[in-house]
Amino acid sequence: MGMDEAEFLDRTQRIAEAFRPAAPMNRRDLFAGRVQQIADVFSIVSQPGQHALIYGERGVGKTSLGMIAAELLRASNVLSAWATCDASDDFTTVWHKALGEIGLTTTKQAIGFGERIDERAEPLSKLLGSGPVTPHTVQRALEHASRQRPIAIFIDEFDRFRQPDGRALFADTIKALSDRVVSSTIVLIGVADSVGELIREHRSVERALVQIQMPRMSPTELAEIATNGVAAAQMTIAGTAVTRITALSQGLPHYTHLLTQLAAQSALSDRRTHIGTRDVDAAVTRAIERAQQSIVDAYRDAVIGRRGAIYPQVLLACALAQEDEFGYFGSSDVREPLSRILDKPSSPSTFARHLEELSSESHGSILQRSGSAGAARYRFVNPLIQPYVAMRGISEGVVRASDLQLQDKRVGGRNRGREGQGPKTRSSSSSS
Ligand SMILES: Nc1ncnc2c1ncn2[C@@H]1O[C@H](COP(=O)(O)OP(=O)(O)OP(=O)(O)O)[C@@H](O)[C@H]1O
Ligand SMILES: [Mg+2]
Repeated sequence: MGMDEAEFLDRTQRIAEAFRPAAPMNRRDLFAGRVQQIADVFSIVSQPGQHALIYGERGVGKTSLGMIAAELLRASNVLSAWATCDASDDFTTVWHKALGEIGLTTTKQAIGFGERIDERAEPLSKLLGSGPVTPHTVQRALEHASRQRPIAIFIDEFDRFRQPDGRALFADTIKALSDRVVSSTIVLIGVADSVGELIREHRSVERALVQIQMPRMSPTELAEIATNGVAAAQMTIAGTAVTRITALSQGLPHYTHLLTQLAAQSALSDRRTHIGTRDVDAAVTRAIERAQQSIVDAYRDAVIGRRGAIYPQVLLACALAQEDEFGYFGSSDVREPLSRILDKPSSPSTFARHLEELSSESHGSILQRSGSAGAARYRFVNPLIQPYVAMRGISEGVVRASDLQLQDKRVGGRNRGREGQGPKTRSSSSSS
C-alpha cells in the first residue's frame, strides 16, 4: 500500500500527539480505564465531610487520574483547582497556588448608577490574606467560596511537600472542613505505600479521609491505551502486537505509550499503516537505546560483581517474576524464571543472598525489601526499571518476549481477579 509524503507526515504527527510517555494524560479521548477510581472520586466529592487521598507507586497514573477527574467535575459544575507541590512549598504557598486558580465572581450594585451591576472575577486566593495561611483561614475562604458552587482542590505530589509539621496542618484543615460541613473537597495525591506515610497526623482525620489506592493498570486497560492511540492516528495494530506491548509494560502505562509510539514509528518508516510484532521488537531495541540515564546507571550499579557472579541473571529473573498489583514479588516467584535463564533448576537458597545484596547499598538498593526474613517480599524501588531490565534480557536474547506473556497467562493474567471487582477504596478507619 502506498503512502505519500503528506500522509506520512500527517500520521507521524498524529502518533506524536496520541502517545505521551513523558506527561500525564489529560485528554479524555485518550485516557483509558480507571472507571472505578473516577467513580470513587465523584462519590467522595458529593459526600459532605469526605476528602480523598489518591496514592500508589510512582508512574501508575495518579496525576492523569486526578486531571481527568478534575475536568469531569468541572463539567458537572464543581469548581476544581489544582496545585502541584514541590520541596520548597509550605502550607501558605500551596494554598496560594491552589486558590489562585479559582476565580470568584463578586457582583456589586454600583452606587448611583441605577441598574448597573458590577461583576468582577478575582482569584479566590485573595481571601487568604497576605499573612501566613492557617487551617482556619483556608476553612473560612472555602466556606465563603463554596456558597456559590462546590469546590474540589487537588493537591498533587503531596509526598514532595516537606514542611515540618506541614502535613499536620493539612490534617487539621481536613478536620475543620469536615466538622463544619463545608462543600469543599480536598484531594491529596502522592507516591506512597500507605496513608500513614503521607499524613502522619491522620488519626484525627480517619473518618474524613477516604483512600483511593492506585494499582498498576490491567492488561485490558493498557490494551485500551495502545488501541485508542493507534486508532487516533488512523492506523491498525495486530492483536499479538498489543499483547506483547501490554506484557512488556508490566502494568505501567508509561511503557505502553512509549512502545506503541515507537512501534508505530517503525511501521511508518516502512510506509505501513499496520503495526505488527516485528515493529514491537524494533520498539524494544529503540526503547533500550533511549532509556533515561538514571535507569541505565541504576542497572549498572545493581549488577556489578565478580566475574561469573549471577547478579544480572537474578535481576532479570526479578523483572520477569510475577509481581502483584503493587509491584511486589517473593523469592518463589523468582525461582522459575531464574531456572529458565540459567537453564538449570535453581532453589531460593542459591539466590537468597543475591536478593539481599540487590536490596542493599552495595548494589545500589535497586530492590526494596519488606516483610520478615521468612516471608520477605521485594520490589523495584523505581518501578520503571523493571520493564527496562526485562527488555534488555529480551534484546540480548537471554529470554524471549513470549516468556513474559507466558508468565502472564499461566497465572491467569497480571493482577488476576481484579478486573470487575469492587472499589479499591476503603476509609482509613477500617484499615487501622
Ligand atoms: N488512564 C490512563 N490512560 C492513558 N494513559 C495514562 C493513563 N494513566 C497514566 N497514563 C500515562 O502514564 C504515564 C504516567 O502517568 P502519570 O504521570 O499520571 O503517573 P503518576 O502516577 O502521576 O506518576 P508520578 O508518580 O511520577 O507522579 C504518562 O505517560 C501518562 O500519559
Ligand atoms: Mg504524578
